[in-house]
Amino acid sequence: MTANSEQIEYWNGEAGERWASYDDMMSRLLAPIAELLLDHAPPEGARSALDVGCGGGSQSLMLAQRLGEGAKVTGVDISGPLLEVARRRAAEVAEDLEFLEADAAVHPFEADSYDLLFSRFGVMFFDDPEAAFTNLRRALLPGAPLLFACWQSLKDNPWTWLAVQAALEHVPAPPPPQPGEPGPFSFADPARVQSVLGSAGFSDVDIHAQQVTLHWGEGDTLADKVRELVQIGPVGRLLADQPGDVRQKVRESIAEVLAPYYNGEVLVLEGATWFVRATA
Ligand SMILES: C[S@@+](CC[C@H](N)C(=O)[O-])C[C@H]1O[C@@H](n2cnc3c(N)ncnc32)[C@H](O)[C@@H]1O
Repeated sequence: MTANSEQIEYWNGEAGERWASYDDMMSRLLAPIAELLLDHAPPEGARSALDVGCGGGSQSLMLAQRLGEGAKVTGVDISGPLLEVARRRAAEVAEDLEFLEADAAVHPFEADSYDLLFSRFGVMFFDDPEAAFTNLRRALLPGAPLLFACWQSLKDNPWTWLAVQAALEHVPAPPPPQPGEPGPFSFADPARVQSVLGSAGFSDVDIHAQQVTLHWGEGDTLADKVRELVQIGPVGRLLADQPGDVRQKVRESIAEVLAPYYNGEVLVLEGATWFVRATA
């Protein structure tokens, strides 16, 4: 099996297509997190940035806008469907954006070619994170910054934990993830992040806890928002192979659990992230 083959299959299969179709909504949902991350460690001065696991590229564009004229942002991702969205987005703006379909963990980037490594939720999916971050560090100029956001644990993230619990009333629980298994919560333990980055040759690792408020859902009703919520993330994974009647029961249970968080317009749900900075 080649490196990251499961993730490559996942992000190019039905899940990748689903993410691509919800990218506009996700970009609005997650924009405040990219803003907070860029405020936390202003990247001004960088001229050549690499956005790892760039997905549909909305945060690549935000980064390019922050860096201003003369700066170039390269987004790298394994997902064909999401890169299609990213390239469409880039075609409509003046910023210097380029997208590369490659596995960031093993791609032979030119050494010392970037002066900023950036990611919003795109670095938690490597089979061998030490090797992946070593590869990425070599692409960075010595002394250049690494800046990324990752999730704290599933249980610390009510935006998805509440829905997962409601779903588990109707579908079997998946086997518990193995320690270090790639996935959205694989960097939940800051000691692990510290150790991975240290082994990969990064120094000055700084891990900052950042609470975020997510305003979920763009449909008209609570039921519409729940329909959106169950498409992606951990609940999306739980429901992937479930028949329509089970999905319907899950949606009803989730709507009941989330009703107190619905303000008549959006679901207002809390999330917990780590903002990680380090130096190559
Ligand atoms: C949760 S999404 C985040 C997308 C985007 N950064 C955002 O915030 O909207 C994770 C992304 O990481 C990408 N990814 C996972 N493993 C990767 C790898 N080895 N190399 C490059 N991209 C990868 C996925 O294809 C997906 O687009």
